[in-house]
Amino acid sequence: MKAVELRQKYLDFFRKNGHSVIRSAPLIPENDPTVLFTTAGMHPLVPYLLGEKHPQGNRLTDYQKCIRTGDIDEVGDPVHLTFFEMLGNWSLGDYFKKESIAFSFEFLTSAEWLNLPLDRLAFTVFAGDEDAPFDAEAYAEWQKHGVSEKRIAKLPKADNWWGPAGVTGPCGPDTEIFYWTGPLPAPEVFEPSDKRWVEIWNNVFMQYFKNAEGKFEPLKQCNVDTGMGVERVTAVLQGKASCYDTELFAGLFAKLDAIRGVEAPAERVRSERVVVEHIRASVFLMADGVAPGNVDQAYVLRRLIRRAIREGMKLGITEIFTPSMAQVVIDEYGELYPELVANKDAILENLDREEKQFAAALERGTKEFEKLIAKVPAHIQNKSISGKNAFYLYETYGFPIEMILEMATEKGFSVDVKGYEEAYAKHQELSRQGAEQKFKGGLADHSEETARLHTATHLLHKALRLTLGEHVAQKGSNITAERLRFDFSHPDKVTPEQLKIVEDMVNEVIKADVPVICEELSIEEARNSGAIGLFGDKYGERVKVYSVGDFSKEICGGPHAQRSGELGHFRIQKEESSSRGVRRIKAVLEH
Ligand code: SER
Repeated sequence: MKAVELRQKYLDFFRKNGHSVIRSAPLIPENDPTVLFTTAGMHPLVPYLLGEKHPQGNRLTDYQKCIRTGDIDEVGDPVHLTFFEMLGNWSLGDYFKKESIAFSFEFLTSAEWLNLPLDRLAFTVFAGDEDAPFDAEAYAEWQKHGVSEKRIAKLPKADNWWGPAGVTGPCGPDTEIFYWTGPLPAPEVFEPSDKRWVEIWNNVFMQYFKNAEGKFEPLKQCNVDTGMGVERVTAVLQGKASCYDTELFAGLFAKLDAIRGVEAPAERVRSERVVVEHIRASVFLMADGVAPGNVDQAYVLRRLIRRAIREGMKLGITEIFTPSMAQVVIDEYGELYPELVANKDAILENLDREEKQFAAALERGTKEFEKLIAKVPAHIQNKSISGKNAFYLYETYGFPIEMILEMATEKGFSVDVKGYEEAYAKHQELSRQGAEQKFKGGLADHSEETARLHTATHLLHKALRLTLGEHVAQKGSNITAERLRFDFSHPDKVTPEQLKIVEDMVNEVIKADVPVICEELSIEEARNSGAIGLFGDKYGERVKVYSVGDFSKEICGGPHAQRSGELGHFRIQKEESSSRGVRRIKAVLEH
């Protein structure tokens, strides 16, 4: 079965069972600073898992693009990916364990759907600990469907618990479904540590909210959140050992072979896998408005692109090649993800520019390297490059350690790799601390201040459009409990006079103390009512529209203040460039 058929069957099955199909959310979480990327299908749904009403009902299904960078260094082996698609179905306070398990069982085993033999399936359930009891219900439900207890393993939190993407959020026990990929017949007794059992689906039963103290409070509503990785399941269903051997990567590999002028090899090597994987991930990130840079998502993107280029060099490529590879991703995924087509020019330009910049950095770095070497007197025995200097070359010029080692060896130098690793680890620790700073506030944090800042963001957006023109459109938004950050399209710097007009306009609306009203409308009604914001193109989709008096009307998931008067005094702290053609404003509310 091809991935395209798997996606279709999944959505059809859940649609038939009363679920609304929702659109894939962007890879950059909207208004959620707790994580840099959308890491799972549930992530964009957090407000609804916490009890907010979803405009499309309480049974949802979708395919969601995701990025996980935790294993970036592992990419290149046959299993790891940074970008993947996840199929999911959700119950927002509607059905729970019994129905969720029945749905999964039917979809996997029924002849009408995936038709997998029960004999090749195995299951895990949560064994219980001091925070929550053994999941006896999930265990019993699988048995009711004829699953032998020898095929149900009871495992601890490390395996059978799904926690929040940030430090706080909804969570609960899960039950995972495994498929036997070894020789048949499958062993009678399920041994989870045997890697030939491959996890294909995860059903999370959200019953708790993990609060900032790490305590598990019962959730107001019990939810189901399931996730099935498209790449992995496609490989398993096709009897392939690696997702890189499926049609999902075939076009990209063919393009890579053509660029190199080589025949398709019998087996792919690490560098080839890194190139196709990282280019696919980078294209999706750029389609969601990220441009290569030095902080946050922009930095991850730059790393992905530069790693791809480096591995391309190792494969003997000397020309600019990433834009033509990106074109394959756009062609193959453009129908499912129209944002790829809409942002094609920016994607191709970014890659072209990044390849040129990287080449220049490598050239400067080589000069710097030679200067470092020249400082060491020729008569010294055992010449060595210190860990600090090696890390400097890596950090400043993007020189990978393997390259530094190669160049050093050529000149008769050794490299203090241990010292380099220590410097690297120290840097990692600093970025980790930086990342943890981001775990404050966010969608999981429905504090009043966050709600006020959401409302202020709508006022700012509208005031910018009135002051600068209708070309102003939201490109990104990030709210913590302390401040808002708003990225928008505008070609020039916003002058201090213009900023003053915008600030005054927002404060006028706050002073007028007008009500904030939420309506649920279809996309068509929302568009006709003049609401701004991100429109999907799905006919009939229902959305929430928030109006602040008659000043602003915008599509948004919330949460918001009740009246504009609650906002206090609005002050713009900073206006700067975010990326080409995009400006960034940081602002606060003073009480
Ligand atoms: N959130 C769970 C996962 O990512 C199920 O969707 O596995």
